[in-house]
Amino acid sequence: MPYVEPGDTSELAAAVRKQFEQAYDDSPAVVARAPGRVNLIGEHTDYNRGLVLPVALPHATYAAVAPRSDGVVRIASGDSGSPFTGTIDALGPGRVEGWATYVGGVLWALREDGIDVPGVDVLVHGTVPLGAGLSSSAALECSVALAACAVAGVADSPTLRQRLVAACIRAETEVAGAPTGGMDQTVSLLASAGHALLIDFDAGGDATVDVSLPLSAGGLALLVTDTRVQHALVDGGYAARRADCEAAAAALGVASLRQARRSDLATLDDERVRRRATHVVTEIERVSATVSALGGSEWDEVGRLFAASHASMRDDFEISCPELDLAVSTAVSAGATGARMTGGGFGGSSVALVPVARVDAVANAIDTAFAGAGFRAPQHLLAEPSGAAAVVG
Ligand code: GLA
Repeated sequence: MPYVEPGDTSELAAAVRKQFEQAYDDSPAVVARAPGRVNLIGEHTDYNRGLVLPVALPHATYAAVAPRSDGVVRIASGDSGSPFTGTIDALGPGRVEGWATYVGGVLWALREDGIDVPGVDVLVHGTVPLGAGLSSSAALECSVALAACAVAGVADSPTLRQRLVAACIRAETEVAGAPTGGMDQTVSLLASAGHALLIDFDAGGDATVDVSLPLSAGGLALLVTDTRVQHALVDGGYAARRADCEAAAAALGVASLRQARRSDLATLDDERVRRRATHVVTEIERVSATVSALGGSEWDEVGRLFAASHASMRDDFEISCPELDLAVSTAVSAGATGARMTGGGFGGSSVALVPVARVDAVANAIDTAFAGAGFRAPQHLLAEPSGAAAVVG
């Protein structure tokens, strides 16, 4: 069974260095990598000041950066997408288009935060599948942010990482125009290998806890299936869900749904808004329950929580789709301990907790089910819990 490979870090760093040299006829000063992520549980809870539990993937974006003395910014990709040329002073909301927005947006946001990034040449290349709900855009933002800071001579530190999380979120929300909640940038910059990252969005910037994920001791692996149904966070569905959550919080008289109690939800008159809020409130409870279950290696309980999370997203939050539902139900019937859709929804990926010996069989069963349903062939990857963004060359 072929899986989407993360690639070897030093080989990919060398490859992006070479692509930089071919594109710009010069050598990069820094190469940094930042991972994509798969969320274990806690979906659409981040912008409701809730809890999330993502894992950094071994798949990452690599950014090669060199400073320039003339204020010019050039952005190119080793994968696809047209290059961008502008100046560092002219970056900002509405000033960059297409995929380069994420890069230009980060350079702008770093300068807004007082980090003196000069003009730069940037080349990016990566192995995070694009548009698969695995945070390829956050990986892009975070790799560029870390490399640009190294070029600007700013030393890496926990405080810097917090600033980079904030800058990458600003790039995504204010420049790229995706009203996302911050989970993806936080895990890309703060994850620890072998762990999931519990993030509490109601407790200030540094509210993260490493949660041990003893998958191999449990004989388990995380199988991610990209349905190849493209999801885009700048489309209306994500923003509409966010608006419903804000409407629910306003109707309940609380600052965010984190403050809502399950027993209050019945007072919401609008049936759709009530279901959206029910998802968020119960999903936050499920994140806490998952952390407890992981602490006791109660994998069957984690599987049960995955199932409840998926049903909640399918029925109450309405962000699943036939391909995701089929990937999840097939994974479970083929032997997964649990499965659910992951990420923003409306396409993208599912994540399954699978006994190691059953991983190929589960992936094959999903392929067969997709072919039988007339769906596009999915692709799979193995999510070995990996570490945060780092300078690698
Ligand atoms: C996307 C967003 C995140 C989060 C998830 C849903 O990945 O970028 O901020 O809201 O969707 O959990």
